[in-house]
Amino acid sequence: MTYINDEIIENVRENSDIVSLISDYVHLKKSGSNYVGLCPFHNEKTPSFTVSSTKQIFHCFGCGEGGDIIKFIMKKENVDFPDAIKLLADKLGIEINMEINKDSSHKDEKGKVYEINREAARYFLNNLDHNNAPLAYLGNRSISKKVRRQFGLGFAINSWDSLYNYLKSKNYSDVEIEQAGLVGKKEKSNGFYDKFRNRIMFPIIDTRSRVIGFGGRVMDQKMPKYLNSPDTIVYNKGNHLYGLNLVSKYSNRKRILLVEGYMDVISLFDSGINYAVASLGTALTERQSKIIKRYGDEVYVCYDSDNAGIKATLRAIDIMSKVDLNPKILILPDGMDPDDYMKRNGPIEFEKLFVNAYSYIDFKVHILKREYKIDTLEGKIKFTREVANIIKNIKSPIEQDIYIDKISQETKITKDAIEKEIRGNNYNKKSFNYKNIAISEIKPVKSALPPAHYKAEIELIKLMIKEKDYYYYIIERLSIDDFNSKECINIFKQLNTFYDNCEIIDEKVLFDKILEIPNLNKNTIDLIFINSSKYKAGDIEKIIDDLIKTVSTNNLLKKRNAMLTEIEELEKKSRNAIEDEKFKQLCLDLMALNSKINLDN
Ligand code: UTP
Ligand code: MN
Repeated sequence: MTYINDEIIENVRENSDIVSLISDYVHLKKSGSNYVGLCPFHNEKTPSFTVSSTKQIFHCFGCGEGGDIIKFIMKKENVDFPDAIKLLADKLGIEINMEINKDSSHKDEKGKVYEINREAARYFLNNLDHNNAPLAYLGNRSISKKVRRQFGLGFAINSWDSLYNYLKSKNYSDVEIEQAGLVGKKEKSNGFYDKFRNRIMFPIIDTRSRVIGFGGRVMDQKMPKYLNSPDTIVYNKGNHLYGLNLVSKYSNRKRILLVEGYMDVISLFDSGINYAVASLGTALTERQSKIIKRYGDEVYVCYDSDNAGIKATLRAIDIMSKVDLNPKILILPDGMDPDDYMKRNGPIEFEKLFVNAYSYIDFKVHILKREYKIDTLEGKIKFTREVANIIKNIKSPIEQDIYIDKISQETKITKDAIEKEIRGNNYNKKSFNYKNIAISEIKPVKSALPPAHYKAEIELIKLMIKEKDYYYYIIERLSIDDFNSKECINIFKQLNTFYDNCEIIDEKVLFDKILEIPNLNKNTIDLIFINSSKYKAGDIEKIIDDLIKTVSTNNLLKKRNAMLTEIEELEKKSRNAIEDEKFKQLCLDLMALNSKINLDN
């Protein structure tokens, strides 16, 4: 049997996307967060074969077959493990022949570099506890001891050879130490010097908990602000993401958020966002985008709000689209980064950024609008051209239509002008044929999200408990049916009786009353009663309005899902004239609802 080394197997695993690979064999359709199709391993008429993109596994509920992509290929192509790897490597364009012959000393070399990195990380970590300057620096930036430990932060003391000497004392050879990239050869004399001096150290850790490199930050205004490990035999910055180790450990993989910096990831994690990663001081690569795709269903980008950040966002959008990702963009006030924003405004405000996230198209249009003066004729023409170019590339005609509508409304440029710019003068509206619309094309841009919704409900209930005026303000705008959490619904019901009899609610009495109701979630109740929210008095109305909007948008989304199901049913069958009319009407209603949801945001 051929021997294939672990590196190649790992490489194949990391690079293969199970959904696209299985699509070569099975016609897959998206269903919820998974894909389904007819099982290739047994005979069936209704699909019970499921593929999960986030978990990268398949499973058939009919015959029980299941496993990862390698298992699938072995079974489907009737080959053994090494041949399955070869076949996949071939499909993925991974060179296998060259590496197959490499002797195992290469593996040992890598093992040594991992070891040295770990030793170094331990050394830096230990330094931190004995040095006041870095501790004070981290303290000033509100980084707690707990977070320091979670990220393994450390300190490289201000010395030219302390790390080198430390590693020598652990019996590593010069060659080995040099390979880890943490020391450089002296130019004029023999010997080595430490590259990282007087810097806070951020170890970069992979999903298998190996230290693969470091970033080091100065504690003052010196340049460069960050120094990073060079590429080594275990580290290639375009292949890794900072923070992925913790995302892989803690995140539920619903969302993933791409940010620019080490400090952004750390600060967000500290505030409960355990799904942020940073692209390690380089422009995002395709490889990184593929990794991102595997760690979250919904992808968001939140780069620094400065010129460089905007450029980098536009680039990230283009790179991501190459691997079929359509990220949404969180926009921060000018000059801020996610760390600043979280520190200044807190998690609830940060969550609102998700609710108000821009689709990548909206983002591009938003940027163009800043770039061109659309109140001048020339600016308007240029702007329309650029926008037309963006819309041209949207695959779904319905989505195109929605954007044309929206842009026309925003800019007062007529729909007709935009359409002509996109499709040329020959564009004929009647050729738009509802029968030919694939359902996937109607499925709209995702919008408000359940976690935001849940938090908004809770905040609203808290406010209603606090002030009778808020209570009346809110019930004029939302009804009990708008709430989804059982806990909130029950409190909502009680509030009515309470406020009928008193001006101010005794929270303790209400709390006890709620605890008597069976089957409610204690954690949620605690969230409502125990944590108090602090709002600035002047902001409160806007906050309530925003919360109400979050809740009602989510309800529109629910309505849209129901419509989609109905459309899907009708799409499947051969329709008579009446049903066809209904189908068409539903599509139109859906479009209207889509743009309402999009415009509201
Ligand atoms: P930023 O300058 O935005 O730094 O660079 P930051 O992460 O917000 O850090 P603080 O808050 O100032 O401490 C974003 C990222 O770009 C890379 C680093 O990965 C950094 O986290 N970078 C930046 C470098 O690699 N070298 C540099 O000199 C600067
Ligand atoms: Mn920054």
